[in-house]
Amino acid sequence: MSDDVVISKKNAGYYAADLVKDGMIIGLGTGSTVFYAMERLSVRIKEEGLNIKGVPTSFQTAMRARDYGIPLTTLDDYPKLDLAIDGADQIDPNLCMIKGRGAAQTRERCVAQAAEKFVVVADEGKLCDVLSAVVPVELIPFSFGLVVERLKELSGNPKVREGVKKDGPVITDNGCIEIDCDFGEIKDAKALQMEINNIPGVLSCGLFTEFGEKTVVVVGKTDGVKTL
Ligand code: A5P
Repeated sequence: MSDDVVISKKNAGYYAADLVKDGMIIGLGTGSTVFYAMERLSVRIKEEGLNIKGVPTSFQTAMRARDYGIPLTTLDDYPKLDLAIDGADQIDPNLCMIKGRGAAQTRERCVAQAAEKFVVVADEGKLCDVLSAVVPVELIPFSFGLVVERLKELSGNPKVREGVKKDGPVITDNGCIEIDCDFGEIKDAKALQMEINNIPGVLSCGLFTEFGEKTVVVVGKTDGVKTL
């Protein structure tokens, strides 16, 4: 990651963290940009006595939150969140996006759904005209053969995501399998999202097309941010 991208992510993350108000219950997404937001929140907790609780979307985010002294809670205790801060892998002009590089898209979708406002933090490299990145799909192991077959029928060229430090499939935080699909340029992301998410056994794919109205994208740049 270049220095410019690091600075851009940090600017986006810090800006989003400053949107958080005392008493809020927030969703904590997954990825390096969200971690900058959490870094800033930890400073605000110490310096301002900011009183917040966060629902983490991954084991990694929960660990980081504990390091940063951000109190954690669950969707069972708080099914409604004031705001969720999350990253993205690709964002189009309609604020449709692809998520799930960290294989956390199922919990990220739950938290985004629960939140009144969805604040997406990203660097400029994530912006695109047409979504075309790899679309992650999380599925229960029982349905593996069925889901692979259906994704092939959708021309998704499905590939099981494999571990870097583990042989065999990546097992997600939900005890499931992650498949990466390549659909090329996606003309109708909403329709594709529905087709994939309707395959029995799929927990969630990484296409996020339903949150446009409550979404603010904070695009980090080297000299500040712009919001979409
Ligand atoms: C995690 O599953 C993804 O949805 C992330 O939100 C995404 O990969 C963003 O990561 P960075 O902030 O590290 O680019």
